[in-house]
Amino acid sequence: MRAAVITHHGGLDAIELREVELPRPGPDDVLVRVAAAGCNNTDLWTREGSYAASAEDPDARGGWLGPLDFPRVQGADVTGTVVAVGSGTAPDLVGARVLVDPALYADPGPDAAVVDVLGSERDGGFAEHVVVPAACAHRVDDSPLSDVELAALPIAYGTALGMLERGGVGEGHTVLVTGASGGVGLAAVQLGRARGARVVAVCSGSKAQAVRAAGADVVVDRGRGEVLADAAAAAPEGYDAAVDVVAGPFLAEGLDLLRRGGRWVVAGSLDGWAVGLDVRRLYLADLSLVGSTMHTRRVFAALVDIARRGLVRPVVAETFALEDLALAQAHLAERGHVGKIVVVP
Ligand SMILES: NC(=O)c1ccc[n+]([C@@H]2O[C@H](COP(=O)([O-])OP(=O)(O)OC[C@H]3O[C@@H](n4cnc5c(N)ncnc54)[C@H](OP(=O)(O)O)[C@@H]3O)[C@@H](O)[C@H]2O)c1
Repeated sequence: MRAAVITHHGGLDAIELREVELPRPGPDDVLVRVAAAGCNNTDLWTREGSYAASAEDPDARGGWLGPLDFPRVQGADVTGTVVAVGSGTAPDLVGARVLVDPALYADPGPDAAVVDVLGSERDGGFAEHVVVPAACAHRVDDSPLSDVELAALPIAYGTALGMLERGGVGEGHTVLVTGASGGVGLAAVQLGRARGARVVAVCSGSKAQAVRAAGADVVVDRGRGEVLADAAAAAPEGYDAAVDVVAGPFLAEGLDLLRRGGRWVVAGSLDGWAVGLDVRRLYLADLSLVGSTMHTRRVFAALVDIARRGLVRPVVAETFALEDLALAQAHLAERGHVGKIVVVP
């Protein structure tokens, strides 16, 4: 089969299209013919190996959980059709249209931590076929979403749903979303709105219309340089929660935008990870600062239900052929897009 592999940590030249052996499913696995595979920022950090860099060792290279084996097929977000099953797996899965949970978990519990991700610790979906555990292949035969739309869901919408859950966001709440034109942010806008929350979204002015169309009640143009004041004016009673992938100085200042008891949920640090925080603001207002990574089994099950019922329609910015994966990653890094970039092998 054809697969786009990374041969080492590095730039776009680390990506090679190769003819490789068709992977064989183990007893508890299924072989999926990939219909579409979404791109994520983690593909860029993993290819570059920049997760391992630290203040002490800025040149260190590695994946988010440690050293990687090469060649590696990236691609965590997979939808496709099961074409073969392992000896211990129900044969009636053959022919099923599936959405793949990219995570393996520390234990069988619904809220267990993620310990391994498809396309990072094992080969993923930027290929014609991929082997995944049968337990990760969720049937979506009747979903009204297209294959490309389904492939936009796992990491971005799973992360956003996990953040909304951890932020306790529900009907009638007001939620602030940063990085709202990106994969996770736009997902948070759509999913927050679907939960009946009022959504105030921060993005570049050029992307405001698309973010409003996705369901934001108010858009704050960060290009004006008045994000704090504009976000405060958009919610005079304060925010019940913030869904933040930007962090940086805004996180420390933005805590004052929360109502008493509000939750600031952070899953990314596009504007900087070293944040100077006056902790008195946190404890004197009974606020919570909550870290959130990806999803849990429970959250992914809720996402599959949303996909089956078509409760949100993921926003897809562009699609690329497998041989154009380097171009897809270059577009992702430019951040000129709104929504998700998806590869169609
Ligand atoms: N913890 C997890 O499990 C997890 C999962 C997925 C993603 N993430 C992280 O979350 C972040 C966002 O991911 P994504 O896939 O949504 O990214 P994305 O699709 O690239 O979108 C991010 C958007 O944020 C805005 N932005 C970029 N730099 C900014 C800055 N310095 N200040 C303010 N806004 C900025 C840009 O939109 P505008 O120009 O319109 O503002 C950009 O399009 C990344 O850091 C990613 O690694 C974490």
